[in-house]
Amino acid sequence: MDPNRVLIFDTTLRDGEQSPGISLNATEKLEIAQQLARLGVDVIEAGFPIASPGDFEAVQAIARQVEGPVIAGLARANPADVDAAWSAVKDAARPRIHTFVSTSDIHIEHQMQNTREDVRGLARAAVAQARALCEDVEFSPMDATRSDVEFTAEIVKIAIDEGASTINIPDTVGYALPTEYAAFLTRLAELVPELRDVVVSTHCHDDLGLAVANSLAGVQAGARQVECAINGIGERAGNAALEEIVMLLQTRAADLGGLYTGIVTGELARASRLVSRLTGYAVQPNKAIVGRNAFAHESGIHQDGVLKERTTFEIMDATTVGLESSQLVLGKHSGRHALRQALEDLGYRVEGQTLNQAFKRFKEIADKKKQVTAMDLEALVTDELREETGFALESFDVGASSRRPPHASVEVRLPDGSLAQGSFTGDGPVDAVFHAINAATGLDARLREFRVDAVTGGQDALGEVSVVLELDGRSAAGQGVSTDIIEAAGRAYVRALTHVLAKVASGAAPVKPETVEMPAVAP
Ligand code: KIV
Ligand code: ZN
Repeated sequence: MDPNRVLIFDTTLRDGEQSPGISLNATEKLEIAQQLARLGVDVIEAGFPIASPGDFEAVQAIARQVEGPVIAGLARANPADVDAAWSAVKDAARPRIHTFVSTSDIHIEHQMQNTREDVRGLARAAVAQARALCEDVEFSPMDATRSDVEFTAEIVKIAIDEGASTINIPDTVGYALPTEYAAFLTRLAELVPELRDVVVSTHCHDDLGLAVANSLAGVQAGARQVECAINGIGERAGNAALEEIVMLLQTRAADLGGLYTGIVTGELARASRLVSRLTGYAVQPNKAIVGRNAFAHESGIHQDGVLKERTTFEIMDATTVGLESSQLVLGKHSGRHALRQALEDLGYRVEGQTLNQAFKRFKEIADKKKQVTAMDLEALVTDELREETGFALESFDVGASSRRPPHASVEVRLPDGSLAQGSFTGDGPVDAVFHAINAATGLDARLREFRVDAVTGGQDALGEVSVVLELDGRSAAGQGVSTDIIEAAGRAYVRALTHVLAKVASGAAPVKPETVEMPAVAP
């Protein structure tokens, strides 16, 4: 491999999906994985297959259907995890098993409650088992940056001896300083000369806001894979933001010795919007690279400068990251063919009944909106074109005034195709619709989060509603899009009901890799 090429390992669907409150279903994960493939990431960590049947199925679907990147599944260092990871990824053109075990004394003593000797055995057995199944094995000594470097080196050497070809060094709790992280990698390279023959990877968390800085320090110390997530989502404060590390390497390439990635940067903004929409995690307006204001100039001095010469106040061009993609694409007179072409330009191949459905929805929106932009179409696709069977909001009726409490009646199509009605008098029109849906479906779901966004600017903008609701201790998200906020909210709510019910029905307890007990002794 070219020594200047930096591999991008995307963990949006694994570490990112572990963010509090995020819960993506298999269809949503597949949609994100397809966009990651368009973005040109080298590796997609598709999930943690042992965690639940839903996780397993999503990883398997991605392995079977997403072409291009390596597809990785995460496994703790135990036989059942490694087997599950392999079963889930084995149908990919290029599968990878990523196995890990903690090396810090604090984790060994308190979380795993075992010994360094156990960790030696666990690492050796897991990598050997993974390697017997899969050619491409990655190993991570978890909490590496708080571990004794000599002991970490010993474990890393064991992993390489057993056939791991990527060694990832996690700053699991986001504690390291860039200088410390680089020094840790440099010392490891001295202690384990075999690291020259494998890919060294960074995996940095953002608890102190240093995830991207630490990843860069790691790359400067010789790492050639960066683990990161779209919009920086992930456990607690999140992971290194993919878009930031990629644009940092690209913008400062000349000063970083010509390092480069294979990312199609024009797809970054779209990936960011999709992940934000499906996870319900908003992107802050001033977020680097993909925030709404990342290329906006408020001060007259800045505006004046940019009008005269863009580089006076801009170090990147918004088009490079795909932030200028909201131009008009279709109008109310556009036909089915134009819609199909526009969707295809956006990367969605839509035919037959799905195209008819999309066209009907497009016409409804185009009647209300003068201009239908690429961003509107993206929202429409995410909202409408899912192959999902579940609840559907057929109609709603809401009466509200300042003199009497709002009353809503709804008709909901149930998964068996029958229609159910419900009505409720609530605190506000949206609350009334949500309770009326509960009444129609006979489910006692509780709203946990509610967010409204405008897809684009302007008075006739499409409204996008994201909800997270809870049922029987499970939570799930749903999104809805419409020019009418109440309709968007109702659509989001029934979709979230479908998702949460699927989770309740699957019955599996949610598991997260960092929070579960490891076997006490080597198997
Ligand atoms: O942060 C971490 O250490 C992880 C490992 C599972 C790689 O996510
Ligand atoms: Zn992590």
